[in-house]
Amino acid sequence: MKTQPIVPARIDFSDPAAPFASDFGDVYHSRSGALAQARHVFLGGNGLPGRWQERQRFVVLETGFGLGNNFLATWAAWRDDPRRCERLHFISVEKHPPRRDDLQRAHAGSPLAALADQLTAAWPALTPNLHPMSFEGGRVQLLLALGDAADWLPEIVAEVDAFYLDGFAPSKNPQMWDRRLTKAMGRLAAPGASAATWSVAREVRDGLGEAGFVVERAPGFAGKREMSVARYAPAFTPRRAPSRMQAKADGPREAVVIGAGLAGAGVAHALAEHGYHCTVLDRHPAPASETSGNPAGLFHGVITPEDGAHARFNRAAALFAQRSFAPWLGSGEIPGRIDGLLRLDTGEPAAMEALVARLGLPADYLRVVSAEQASELAGLRMPSPAWFYPGGGWLSPAALARRWLREAEHIVFRGGVAIQSVRQAASRWQVLDAAGTVCAEAPVLVLAAGAESLRLLGRPAWPLETVRGQISLLPAGTPGLLLPRRPVAGAGYAIALPGGELLCGASAQAGDPDPAVREEDHLANLAQLGRMTGAAPLVEPGRLQGRVGFRLVSDDRLPVLGPMPLPDARLQGQRLEQPRLIERQPGLYVLTALGSRGITWAPLAAQTLAAWIAGAPLPLEASLLDAVDASRFVSRRARQAERQRAAGSVQPPPSAR
Ligand SMILES: Cc1cc2nc3c(=O)[nH]c(=O)nc-3n(C[C@H](O)[C@H](O)[C@H](O)COP(=O)(O)OP(=O)(O)OC[C@H]3O[C@@H](n4cnc5c(N)ncnc54)[C@H](O)[C@@H]3O)c2cc1C
Ligand SMILES: C[S@@+](CC[C@H](N)C(=O)[O-])C[C@H]1O[C@@H](n2cnc3c(N)ncnc32)[C@H](O)[C@@H]1O
Repeated sequence: MKTQPIVPARIDFSDPAAPFASDFGDVYHSRSGALAQARHVFLGGNGLPGRWQERQRFVVLETGFGLGNNFLATWAAWRDDPRRCERLHFISVEKHPPRRDDLQRAHAGSPLAALADQLTAAWPALTPNLHPMSFEGGRVQLLLALGDAADWLPEIVAEVDAFYLDGFAPSKNPQMWDRRLTKAMGRLAAPGASAATWSVAREVRDGLGEAGFVVERAPGFAGKREMSVARYAPAFTPRRAPSRMQAKADGPREAVVIGAGLAGAGVAHALAEHGYHCTVLDRHPAPASETSGNPAGLFHGVITPEDGAHARFNRAAALFAQRSFAPWLGSGEIPGRIDGLLRLDTGEPAAMEALVARLGLPADYLRVVSAEQASELAGLRMPSPAWFYPGGGWLSPAALARRWLREAEHIVFRGGVAIQSVRQAASRWQVLDAAGTVCAEAPVLVLAAGAESLRLLGRPAWPLETVRGQISLLPAGTPGLLLPRRPVAGAGYAIALPGGELLCGASAQAGDPDPAVREEDHLANLAQLGRMTGAAPLVEPGRLQGRVGFRLVSDDRLPVLGPMPLPDARLQGQRLEQPRLIERQPGLYVLTALGSRGITWAPLAAQTLAAWIAGAPLPLEASLLDAVDASRFVSRRARQAERQRAAGSVQPPPSAR
């Protein structure tokens, strides 16, 4: 998906009964009240709250989030309903989101002010991403897609039970009612889905009809005589792509996870939120004893000129990581801080600023700072300008993994269990130790065992490599030690820890299996530290403390996750050119290759995998899902083979022979 900068809404509040969108020449809602309109048209028109009662999950998709009145009214109705569904998912698309202060203003004095305050507090940086937000301890999920609905609807991966169509009057904003949008709705509709809108415009009704909805008129709200309600009843149901088949919401919710590093602990935590009971196994007695065991590491976003899959995934992941970590860092449950991070760069500040402006990235996500400003932020002299990520920071990955596993009701951790093999027995997966004893079994198995995942999967032909890395820990009070006020990264990184120690690193040696801490790596880390911060600490490298880990890195620098593809032999003759087309092994999932960004990536990667397993709306758009999908390597090989076949079958012209 090609991203466009997000231009916030221009809202005229001069009529307090009906805020006005200056760019569209239309009001955000009826003068007779936004919440009353939401209840009559959107909830009532979709048979809510009745239709969500006693269900495990109910999914609403709205076109035009606007000021969030429909979301707040739906959330309030869910709260007030003693027979509410277990989890409510509300997906909405918005091209011109309000700025946070406009959102606050719109709901000042509203009867739902308490909910509106929570929405305002969760309001994201306005970047072109899918922004997951969680309320009610995870039982109300808002997925807000910022950008044009025409770009976003084909990217949403969900089965939708009710559609709210609320995109300004068709006469004033025809794009929002385009046939491509209604067609995309048909592809997203769950069996029995419904739709409602205040519009009875001919083109709206025809579009819904063509997409497989049976449209009827119903009494309208306030001054309007009629509105449209619709039921999905297609003559022919299009088959979903194999990787997009949704899990049955009423299946058993049990999983075994192998590996208790950031990947495995993150997945177990996310699955627990979906009501899964997880057994997490690790070969060490304690979680996070391997690569995830460093005392501290960084999290932050990325910027690239083309804003391709890598940058978009990193941005989405960084924003989600910040959102996930903030409460635990704020309460001191996990050592660390979100107070901004500097990424040094040798570019010209003017060119760096031009790039940020071209991509339209907001200052609460990323700012360019001169060497002087960077020095002020770091409290030390910085050698160059930097990218400043205000939501970046550092934390203890081991503490994060332990916190994720502390879901007493849903997660059992069993240490000291080394898994030798996995096998399918009927519709369950069993994991066995070296003696052939079945250690655990469940309908769902997640392999999150770093590079070991590949061995357990029978070594799929994936382009991944292991890169050794070593950090160095400088004791508090070391003469010549300079402690940056915020983490600094560039070639290497430096983090000042609360006790006055400094962690710096990290070396990177592909294919090197040496687990021992080495003096030469300490020297390299100290040299990098000197270049970044000017510090020349007086230490004996041979006596420094350090730690070695092994990053598993994919050739496209993205994680590997999702349901496992069927073995190659069983894919013969099938269409493989896109990951979403590839048939999967029921119940077998993987999350690995978190590279050198496990802290930033694990929260979103884990949420995505858990939603995939549970059949809930995915917090990652289709194009990014394809980019991280474990099946991408199968597709890549299929496309390469196809290109070779095509090249071989084209005869070169006679002159070239
Ligand atoms: C030096 C260094 C510095 C880093 N700095 C940062 C940083 O600043 N920011 C950042 O985001 N990332 C950083 N990383 C990367 C980050 O640490 C990794 O991406 C992350 O820890 C990977 O997590 P994981 O759960 O996939 O792997 P692991 O933490 O290795 O977890 C895999 C788990 O599986 C278990 N296991 C394996 N095989 C079996 C088996 N057969 N049976 C049972 N259990 C098994 C292991 O015991 C282990 O606990 C750094 C990495 C290194 C090496
Ligand atoms: C009537 S308002 C929505 C009101 C909102 N549902 C509420 O409850 O407050 C319509 C919204 O559609 C948005 N919009 C208009 N065209 C769009 C497009 N092409 N893609 C996505 N959103 C669009 C507008 O910015 C506006 O916020």
